[in-house]
Amino acid sequence: MSSIDLKKIYLNFFEGKGHKIIPSAPVIPENDPTVLFNTAGMQPLVPYLKGLPHPEGTRLADVQKCFRTNDLEEVGDKTHHTFFEMLGNWSLGDYFKEESIAWSFELLTKYLNIPVERLAVTVFKGNELVPADEEAANLWLEQGILKDRIAYLGVDDNWWPNMELTGPCGSDTEIFYWRSDEAVPDKFDPENENWVEIWNNVFMQYMHNPDGTFTPLEKKNVDTGMGVERVVAVLEGQTDNYKSSIWTDIIAKIEEVSGKKYDDEKYTTAIRIIADHLRAIVMLLGDDAKITPSNKDQGYVLRRLIRRTIRYARTLDINIDSDWDSQIANIVINQYKEYYTELDRNKDFIIESLKNEKVKFNRTLEKGLREFEKITKTIQGTEIDKDTAFKLYDTYGFPIELTEELAKEQGFTVDMDGFKAKFEEHQAKSRAGSEQKFKGGLASSGEMETKYHTATHLLNAALKKVLGEHVHQRGSNITAERMRFDFAHGEKMTDEEKKKAEDLVNEYISMAIPVERLEMPKEEAVKMGAECEFIERYPDIVTVYKIGDVSLEICGGPHVSNTSELGHFVIKKEESSSSGVRRIKAVLE
Ligand code: ALA
Repeated sequence: MSSIDLKKIYLNFFEGKGHKIIPSAPVIPENDPTVLFNTAGMQPLVPYLKGLPHPEGTRLADVQKCFRTNDLEEVGDKTHHTFFEMLGNWSLGDYFKEESIAWSFELLTKYLNIPVERLAVTVFKGNELVPADEEAANLWLEQGILKDRIAYLGVDDNWWPNMELTGPCGSDTEIFYWRSDEAVPDKFDPENENWVEIWNNVFMQYMHNPDGTFTPLEKKNVDTGMGVERVVAVLEGQTDNYKSSIWTDIIAKIEEVSGKKYDDEKYTTAIRIIADHLRAIVMLLGDDAKITPSNKDQGYVLRRLIRRTIRYARTLDINIDSDWDSQIANIVINQYKEYYTELDRNKDFIIESLKNEKVKFNRTLEKGLREFEKITKTIQGTEIDKDTAFKLYDTYGFPIELTEELAKEQGFTVDMDGFKAKFEEHQAKSRAGSEQKFKGGLASSGEMETKYHTATHLLNAALKKVLGEHVHQRGSNITAERMRFDFAHGEKMTDEEKKKAEDLVNEYISMAIPVERLEMPKEEAVKMGAECEFIERYPDIVTVYKIGDVSLEICGGPHVSNTSELGHFVIKKEESSSSGVRRIKAVLE
């Protein structure tokens, strides 16, 4: 079964059960600076799982573009992917365990035709917060899952996301499939690797607060996630994910441009890495946020992925200067543009950005590799020192992870702490602050973040008044400490303009204007002149925030209820962000 068919069956099924199908959010979270990427289907829905009403109702389903970079080094085996798609269905205070389990069973056995004999499940065995999930176990028994095929596990396995991350969470039940030609054992042993997890249903009942406490959510939710790559492989009888139909065209093209065969063990890993990374690169560049390779945050991950791809392409003797990369990228774009229309829209940007970074890196790569060889020949001991690692980074453009990886291949280590210290010393714009974000996590919208969200709308409105109607939001980034707002405007703002904008925002604050939350069809919002960053991205029914006559914006929220809550607004800096786009950093005091 192709991934296109799987997605259709899944979404049609849940549509039939009263769910609204919502579009995938971008790979890069729009309103959540605490994470670099969306790592699960539920992540863009966090405000709604916490209780904010969703404009499309209480039953939702989608396929979400996800990105996980925690284990980039694992990519190259049979199962890891940097980018993957996750199917999910949600109940926002609507149905709970009974329907969730019954529908999962129905979809798997009747629509995906999986024999019940090949299925097993885990349920939560209980802790001090929640008792053992006998209810889920009984519901599975009712569906026809035998007792021996139900395992009770603890928080490490049956709690999502985990006990450390903050945000909405709860116990879950996971569904496993027997992926082997051997006879299915009667008793389910979750440790046996032939049992592959295919679907996770989380029964979200708690809010894990930043102070460590767990408080019950006002409404109970269901959050499920099914990884498309894994399930397609399973349904196609493959134990190597890359042998599924998802990868056929991409890998055939890599074989063609390299003249090497996937089944030739010498090349399998490199071909997997190139396939995985190029697909991920296309998805990242395809986001409307239009990020480019850089030395921080998502741009840094993008740079690492492109440079890693090129290094592996060289090991296959691909002619790097040819257009092999755009050929493969085009296959990815065509394969995915039906669901992710932004890929088509941003096609030229994807191809050009990839090419530019390739040319840039390739210029120094050879010299860098020669330098690396020289180092390992003359080195005393087994550690590459910080100055050498920094030179490889600074002069030859080696991401530190590349140096680490090359070193490891040859039995060396790298003085990472030393490198980091040196790096921070030399980089005004250190990426140290984003280190946390590389670890992933869930959205948090605390009180200050919420205030900054509203301040963003006021600033947008004030800038229109001061600079003109051409001002539109081009990006925003909010932390508890400050806001950053990017907007379309060609010139540097004068001191007078800055002062005027700042004063105007403070005037709006002192007017104590109520902030209203409205829901309406997208067309109507546009007709009313509501501001928005990317109209194509929104679902048919949108949330609009109205601040008196001052501002009207399509936005997911959250926001304060009255502008008087914001305090005093101060513009700290105005600078260029990119061509035609200015950036303001501001704080609330
Ligand atoms: N959020 C859950 C997961 O990603 C469904 O597994």
